[in-house]
Amino acid sequence: MTTPLLEVTGLHATADGTEILKGIDLSVGEREVHALMGPNGAGKSTLASTLLGSPAYEVTAGTIRLNGESVTTWSADVRAKAGMFLAFQHPESIPGVSVTQFLRQAMQARRDLDELSVLEVRLEMGEWMDRLRMDPSFAERHLNEGFSGGERKRNEILQMALLEPTLAILDETDSGLDVDALKIVADGVATVREHRPELGVLVVTHYQRLLSELQPDFVHVLIDGVIVETGGAELAREIEAQGYDRWRP
Ligand SMILES: Nc1ncnc2c1ncn2[C@@H]1O[C@H](COP(=O)(O)OP(=O)(O)O)[C@@H](O)[C@H]1O
Ligand SMILES: [Mg+2]
Repeated sequence: MTTPLLEVTGLHATADGTEILKGIDLSVGEREVHALMGPNGAGKSTLASTLLGSPAYEVTAGTIRLNGESVTTWSADVRAKAGMFLAFQHPESIPGVSVTQFLRQAMQARRDLDELSVLEVRLEMGEWMDRLRMDPSFAERHLNEGFSGGERKRNEILQMALLEPTLAILDETDSGLDVDALKIVADGVATVREHRPELGVLVVTHYQRLLSELQPDFVHVLIDGVIVETGGAELAREIEAQGYDRWRP
């Protein structure tokens, strides 16, 4: 038996003293795509943020392991360096910082380098932008400035490709995502997995459309801070048809 990439056991977490995660067990292996679904307020984003070490949440019990090693007390940037990825969802633009500059910093941090040459960054970016069929001019845009929903998603996928995580967590909660943006995410994940098939993916979403393109190996249903059911892709289709009523008290 191989060690899973991510192994969560008995995880409880609070925000401002309120318990939100009430005992999560979850295991994600190499090459696997997992989907986490659940109604609004179930704790999906809390789980994603807690896994990545957001200081907004306090782990009160349980363990988060990455490649067999407990990262439960590690800071977010140390977890990122160790290979966990959560797209940086900056709500606003960062004035004067280009996509390239931002990525260069993130790549340096991930690889523990002080200086990654701009040329090196441009070469790697160019290669991936090509694979992801992105317009080269995108590299010079200012981060998130006037980005459409689709451009934000492209930027997220490009980050994922270049940072070479072992585990990627995508929280696709944005209710404004249109069909094109969902397709960008699904195609982008598929392209990255083609080149790095060992990547493990946990995607948080309520979009059946995204899941029908991504074809997750496992679907988990989170209700009120607890995973109440785990199944295959058919579970996502059942939820699409029937909602979450059968798990509600
Ligand atoms: N930082 C926080 N402080 C207080 N309550 C929070 C915080 N983050 C989330 N919550 C609460 O935790 C619950 C779960 O939120 P969230 O994880 O965003 O759910 P989901 O992503 O499934 O819609 C909600 O009731 C929300 O109000
Ligand atoms: Mg959410």
